[in-house]
Amino acid sequence: MIAVNGVTKAFGAKTLFENVSVQFTPGKRYGLTGPNGCGKSTFIRILSGEEDANRGTISLPRKVGVLRQDQFHFNNNRIIDTVLMGNKTLWAALEERERLYQEPDITIEMGMRLAELEGTVAEENGYVAEQQASELLHGIGIPEEQHEALMSTLPNDLKFRVLVAQSLFGDPDALLLDEPTNYLDLESIHWLEERLHEFEGTLIVISHDRHFLNSVCTHIADIDYDTIITYTGNYDAMVEAKIQGREQIESVNRDKAKKIAQLQDFVARFGAGQRASQTQSRVKEIKRLELTELKKSNIQRPYIKLDIKRQSGRDVIIAKELSKSYLQPDGSMKQIFEDLSLQFTRGEKVAVIGNNGLGKTTLLRMLVRDLVPDSGTVTQGHELSIGYFPQDYKEGITPGMTVYQWLESFSTDEGQEVLRGLLGRMLFSGEDAHKKTDKLSGGESARLILARLMLEQPNVLILDEPTNHLDLEAVSALAFGLEKYAGTAIFVSHDRELVSEVATRIIAITEEGVADFAGTYEEYLEALEHEKKTGKKASMKQMAMTWA
Ligand SMILES: Nc1ncnc2c1ncn2[C@@H]1O[C@H](COP(=O)(O)OP(=O)(O)OP(=O)(O)O)[C@@H](O)[C@H]1O
Ligand SMILES: [Mg+2]
Repeated sequence: MIAVNGVTKAFGAKTLFENVSVQFTPGKRYGLTGPNGCGKSTFIRILSGEEDANRGTISLPRKVGVLRQDQFHFNNNRIIDTVLMGNKTLWAALEERERLYQEPDITIEMGMRLAELEGTVAEENGYVAEQQASELLHGIGIPEEQHEALMSTLPNDLKFRVLVAQSLFGDPDALLLDEPTNYLDLESIHWLEERLHEFEGTLIVISHDRHFLNSVCTHIADIDYDTIITYTGNYDAMVEAKIQGREQIESVNRDKAKKIAQLQDFVARFGAGQRASQTQSRVKEIKRLELTELKKSNIQRPYIKLDIKRQSGRDVIIAKELSKSYLQPDGSMKQIFEDLSLQFTRGEKVAVIGNNGLGKTTLLRMLVRDLVPDSGTVTQGHELSIGYFPQDYKEGITPGMTVYQWLESFSTDEGQEVLRGLLGRMLFSGEDAHKKTDKLSGGESARLILARLMLEQPNVLILDEPTNHLDLEAVSALAFGLEKYAGTAIFVSHDRELVSEVATRIIAITEEGVADFAGTYEEYLEALEHEKKTGKKASMKQMAMTWA
């Protein structure tokens, strides 16, 4: 069991948690929810001991597996080592032992230390650890010959599966997962859901993905201002319970207000007369009937308005016969694209969809000329200004500055007022503009990048999974902003709402090739359905579907 007792946590003047007590029991699967920046990651870091609380105590089972929100952290480690690191005690002992063995002369003290370390390694099952890690990796679909390669060589979905293996390594009693579904396609999310259903310990998982929370969680721990309220049931049940709770308070308040009005009426009429004692008791009654205060919701919505400085020419980007292959860890080449030609015209809203590892990011990077194709050309049209939102966007934010300073570094002649206004719309109002860039939560970082795009007003937006880390309100604000955008937008997303609402054209990257469909997502699904039934491509819409 995980027991949290009287925990308080504040950063400067901002209190995230005030005297929070809550328990998490084994066999239950808790979703930890709340808007961006409310303190979910901080709470998990306090539980895992990475961060101290100002007050209060935590009690944990012996072994806790953790999956951090920053999924690019282990890029320079070998795959097998990344899994082994899941057992911290063992990993520290293995590393120190390795270091000591590298020394040219072993002193007596070093010898004694080595003996101690061997003891720890034995206690932690170190002699079979590599074997176990290797089996775990095999189970998630990474063949033996890749185990020694660096994490950076893996596509995102596999990288992520390795991190899940890391958190499961050494049979933990509790599992803490921070936004595990970011960067995952539907297949991988399904894979994860099954692993979690099998888990018998205490699970706490942070997510903004409603479907995922509904399918995995038996309970929701919702962060509401500076406290945590636990609900039985999944995410939808929690929302329902919250609405009912509010409605009940509202209805009681209405009754009370009516009663108060009657009493006040009485007091007003007879207050000065002979019925003094009766008015006295009514005045008391009015005080007693005070309305239960309805807290404002802690959910806030950013306002995303994407203007353009000047319009681009009609032809935006012309990609001709692009081919691209990657060297695989086993030495073979994997062809991602072959002779792919695409044309983008001013004003289009293009969603690039498809499973992980098939080349969505590769395509975007070639379009912004961040990556050179093996052959083929990318021509950019007249008067083009591109705003690029890379997948690992956090790396694009310079650490050690304030939010205001970072944004200001991209301004030309905009004054303080404009910058402040932009930050306010993206929910960095007042003091929050002085937050340090390296301390931002996942969602806050994404909002800051969007603020930059709003400032620079490019006429082409190329966005690689911009909705990762964003809460529901922010995703819907982004959909609104992109719909109204007068420029050209090309975006990768697994978010069905965003794709459905915004896209006027779908580029689907599949195992069989690239489908370029001139229509909305719903029309695309219909066309697929039709194609399955009839086996032929008949309608006008489908004519536009060319398989490269
Ligand atoms: N070391 C720190 N110093 C100052 N402020 C911090 C620090 N760490 C986090 N914060 C602030 O505390 C708040 C909570 O951050 P946290 O990362 O826990 O949010 P979150 O709920 O996980 O959000 P998201 O959904 O965006 O991931 C944020 O406003 C963040 O800017
Ligand atoms: Mg977080």
